Parts: sequence; structure tokens; C-alpha cells
Amino acid sequence: MRANTLRAAMATARMAMSSLSSPARALSSAAAPPPPSGVAMVQGASRGIGLEFVRQLLRRSDQGRVVATCRAPDSASELQELRREHAGRLTVLPLDVTDESTIEAAAAAVGETHGSLDLLINAAGILSIPNVIQPETSLSKVQKSSLLLAYEVNAVGPILVIKHMRPFLKIGASLGTGKGFSLVANMSARVGSIGDNALGGWHSYRASKTALNQLTKTASVELGKKDNIACILLHPGTVDTDLSRPFQRNVAKDKLFTREFSVHKLLSIIDNAKKTDNGKFFAWDGQEIPW
Ligand SMILES: NC(=O)c1ccc[n+]([C@@H]2O[C@H](COP(=O)([O-])OP(=O)(O)OC[C@H]3O[C@@H](n4cnc5c(N)ncnc54)[C@H](OP(=O)(O)O)[C@@H]3O)[C@@H](O)[C@H]2O)c1
Repeated sequence: MRANTLRAAMATARMAMSSLSSPARALSSAAAPPPPSGVAMVQGASRGIGLEFVRQLLRRSDQGRVVATCRAPDSASELQELRREHAGRLTVLPLDVTDESTIEAAAAAVGETHGSLDLLINAAGILSIPNVIQPETSLSKVQKSSLLLAYEVNAVGPILVIKHMRPFLKIGASLGTGKGFSLVANMSARVGSIGDNALGGWHSYRASKTALNQLTKTASVELGKKDNIACILLHPGTVDTDLSRPFQRNVAKDKLFTREFSVHKLLSIIDNAKKTDNGKFFAWDGQEIPW
């Protein structure tokens, strides 16, 4: 999604966009052709790392468009503020990863408004919710409901989002608006690594991220071959957000990143991703993490 590569692809994109045959697109194209630049979608954009992705994507060029999704757009005040600041470049859509009908509706809206995606970032995730789910400190605290909820939000949700956004990512890849392929970046966590698990604990969260890693890897094999879409997994470091706040006490000051720093690093991995990175799991500093 760099400005120069986006601009270079303007002519190709314009031709391909105009060849899409939906009547709604033909109508809106006739009225005002959409800006022929890349489209990025950030799922889980109401706060934290997802919101910061939206902010930095909008700031980096005056052309690319961003689709931000979250459970409750009306109460996502910082996102709405960005929408006002970047008029015409940010679309905000409702999407709850635990409700597939909202994913389908968001996909229909993306198809209608943009027609293609060249970057999808799945950022939504849960670690703790008061009185609902807490990271387990021992096996005796493990509950079926927590295991299932973490799996539903952190693993099932992002994969369903990829499933429904796949047609637009495929079109994005053929438009060539970025790097010659479309990219999916799923926010995982180092604790999802089985090879790196020396500490134990956090059973639900760990296992859900491990499942996300396997589901993403599996999707990457199919999408990489059939649709020219690459999928990567990212660990953002320990980042100062609502998710980590209750657990920051033992984190050294220099190991607790700001959202700005972490997302800047993650966008650099996204910018430099190659097709051969398909199916890989990267930390914020670009180092590969063992499965
Ligand atoms: N912060 C860290 O240190 C850290 C470390 C490793 C990995 N990560 C991963 O990075 C990602 C972002 O984390 P964060 O720190 O930004 O967390 P955060 O500040 O708690 O934000 C979590 C986001 O997920 C959304 N979300 C929760 N449940 C959802 C659902 N059912 N459907 C749609 N959206 C939902 C929240 O939306 P609402 O506003 O509607 O609740 C919010 O936008 C997560 O996947 C997390 O596991 C974070």
C-alpha cells in the first residue's frame, strides 16, 4: 500500500474496476469513479492496535482507502473522528466475529462500495473480560466456556472473515494495486507458539492463537496457490492497550510498546512482505517465530 506503487497501478486498476459488471458498480462509476488506489480493511478497529492500524494507514498517503469494521460503530468515537478527518477515504462497517451474518453483510458492503481489497488485517481478539473469561494461572481454573469463547473470537472469527472477503482479495490481487498479490495479516501472539511455550498458563488464549496459526497456515496453502493471496501471522509485542493493561505489572518498561511503535513496525513487515512469506509467523521486529 505504498503511495508510489499505488499510483503506478492507477491505469490498470481503473481498467479492471470498470470491467466489473455489477449494475450498482456501473451506476456509481458513471456518477463518480472511485479513486483507483488500494483498499485496506482492518477488522477489530474500534480501539487498540486495530484503531492504530487505521490511523497509520490513513496518514501514510492521500489516496488509499480504508474499510474499518467493529462491533458497535456508533460508539467507536475515535474511529468516527478519523472518518470525519479523512472524508471519503474511511468506511466504517459493523462486524462481530461471533456473528457470521454480520461478516456476510460487511462483505456485501465491501463488494458494493469498493469491489476489491488488497490488504486485510484481522486485529480483533480477547484475552480477558471481567466475569466472563480470565487468563488461567493453572489447569484447575480452566473452564469449557473460556476455551470455547477464546476459540470463537480469536480463531474462528478471523478465518470466517477471510472466507467472506476472499473474492475481493482475489480481485485486489489481479488489480495489482500493491505488490502483485493481496495480503492477509492476522494478529496472533507469541504465546500461541507451541515451541516457545516454556511458561505454561493462559490456556484458553494460548490455544486459541495456536488454532489461529494453524487455520491461517492451512488457508495460506490454498489461497496462495489458487488466488494469489498471501497470509501472514503477526505478533505485535506486548503493547499498551486495554487487552494487556491488567497484566502489565511484570512487564519491563522497555518491553511495553506504544501502539504507535508496534503498528509502525508491523506495517513495515506488511509493506515488505513477499509472496514467499505466505504462511509465516513474524514478530514485530521481523523475526520468524517457531510454531
Ligand atoms: N496488546 C498486546 O500486548 C497484544 C499482544 C499480543 C497479541 N495481541 C493481539 O493483537 C490484537 C489486538 O489486540 P489489542 O491489544 O488491540 O486489544 P484491545 O485493545 O482489547 O482491542 C480488541 C479489539 O477486538 C475487538 N473485539 C473483541 N471482540 C470482538 C468481536 N466479537 N467481534 C469483533 N471485534 C471484537 C474489540 O472491539 P470492542 O471495542 O467492540 O470490544 C477491540 O476493537 C488481538 O488479536 C490480540 O490478541 C495483542
